Amino acid sequence: MAKKIGILTSGGDAPGLNPVIAGYTKTAIKNGFEVIGFLDGWKGLIEGYYENLTLDRVKEIVQEGGTILGSSRTNPRKEEKGFERIFETLKKLDIYAFAACGGDDTLGVAKELNEKGANVVGVPKTIDNDLEATDQTFGFDTSINIAMDAIDRLRTTARSHHRIFVLELMGRHSGWIALEAGMAGNANAIIIPEFDYPLAELCKLLKKRHEGTRTYSIVVVAEGVSFPEMKEKVEKAGKDSFGNIILANLKVGEFLADEIKERTGLPVRAVTLGHIQRGGPPSAYDRFLGLRYGAKAAELIHTGKFGRMASLQGTNIADVPIEKAVAKRKIVSKELWLLAKSFFG
Ligand code: F6P
Repeated sequence: MAKKIGILTSGGDAPGLNPVIAGYTKTAIKNGFEVIGFLDGWKGLIEGYYENLTLDRVKEIVQEGGTILGSSRTNPRKEEKGFERIFETLKKLDIYAFAACGGDDTLGVAKELNEKGANVVGVPKTIDNDLEATDQTFGFDTSINIAMDAIDRLRTTARSHHRIFVLELMGRHSGWIALEAGMAGNANAIIIPEFDYPLAELCKLLKKRHEGTRTYSIVVVAEGVSFPEMKEKVEKAGKDSFGNIILANLKVGEFLADEIKERTGLPVRAVTLGHIQRGGPPSAYDRFLGLRYGAKAAELIHTGKFGRMASLQGTNIADVPIEKAVAKRKIVSKELWLLAKSFFG
């Protein structure tokens, strides 16, 4: 009888999840496994909700955005008997092993489950690209292209009206999206969580740019940026089940636009790109990367390499211990930040 294995997608979705599911399912079936997908992240594993993944089910999903399995931010540590129920489901459904696709929160749970005896492998997912131990996560490429397109579009209207646009992009702990999309979109200033950029310095730069009358500016800010002036807002923002601040309650882009307006008197508009950065079809790069990550995860199970995560190293897909991915965050280096800063103005 074929061994049964599972897969789940957890946390914020990322373009490329369906290619991962397709790559995983096809490779696993080729290796003689039966495959099921748990629904809505850890929730499906806790509750025992799943669907069968057949070659027919995955044959047309590579080009689709989102995840056919659904996702959630359910944290088993916060659910009553969360881990116990997961082990019950695995036993009841006779699951030999499974793959968890997610960012640091999801992979942290995967690591813990592996330590408790479950046969788990990981796939690095997050549009934020802030996972250590892999050169790039899938979803990031699609999101920076969407963000760059947004900058290009804002530029034409900013130019027509001689306005400043503040564009808030995703990036909770790290500024990869803001930095790369901002540089590619030729933004006039980019502000990221890793490095301080005082409001006074930004306003000085903008005032200088707007000395003439027929000018405009684009300022890109990562959602995770917190200015010292926002202390009170941060305290009131609230936290999700993994203890992350709910950034949608902070609205750093709007805060920044208001501050610029007040300090410079210049015309400013704030735009938050939000979940558009995660929606729609994955880029070719993310489809290719997702398929390879999925196939690697299935191979890791086939060869019994549990507790490991598929990892991009240069152009190769290798594997690393999951704990290496969650030990620390991949943040923007000072060198890159200084390069970006040298193009401001
Ligand atoms: O973790 C990826 C991410 O897209 C972050 O950039 C963002 O802060 C968060 O998810 C948004 O979460 P939610 O989908 O729960 O609003």
